Amino acid sequence: MTLAHMQTLNTGDQALGTVAIYPGTFDPITKGHSDIVARAAGIFDHVILAVAAATSKNTAFSTDERVDLARQVLAEHKNVEVRRFEGLLAHFVRDCGAKAVLRGLRAVSDFEYEFQLAGMNKKLVPEADTVFLPTTENYSYISSSLIREIASLGGNVAEFVHPIVHAALTERLGKRQKG
Ligand code: COA
Repeated sequence: MTLAHMQTLNTGDQALGTVAIYPGTFDPITKGHSDIVARAAGIFDHVILAVAAATSKNTAFSTDERVDLARQVLAEHKNVEVRRFEGLLAHFVRDCGAKAVLRGLRAVSDFEYEFQLAGMNKKLVPEADTVFLPTTENYSYISSSLIREIASLGGNVAEFVHPIVHAALTERLGKRQKG
């Protein structure tokens, strides 16, 4: 992405077409997340995977690490960009001129929280709507914390994450175990 493109994006101009923001902690990005991104990249003109910098979660990877892993995993998608955001998601959505906030739904249990988040974001940034994509069945039981827990206990998570993420998890959680 060129600087000119970035400037257009930041002014909310629609030169990039319909922009969708996919927000989350991504600690780390899993195949469940990249499945949502790949499908969204075929629907929207431009998808921004937005990595939350400030989160109440005690993350295993720093914001820069989470951004870096997501960039490597998603490098093949030309209309996908990975950025960090601080503060309110609604402000970031508005700054990007996005029309959609993208969320994956894994199970009915996700719905209540997602409905609340979507409603609040609609109040804060009325020009954008939340769009839900159902998670592909194979990935419906994945969560980043489960992946971290299994990896830290010596289980094999290769099926659920990109090889780059697998290597990062092994290195990070292996070091923690020794410490
Ligand atoms: N495949 C695999 N896993 C998935 C998934 C999918 N399709 N969709 C969600 N998950 C997992 C995530 O990995 C995460 O797992 P974890 O809890 O084990 O880490 C879990 O489901 C919850 O994910 P998500 O709902 O995306 O929560 P999050 O904490 O990652 O992100 C934010 C929440 C960042 C979007 C939200 O807190 C936010 O907008 N924060 C900014 C501050 C703000 O604006 N607050 C007001 C909101 S109205």
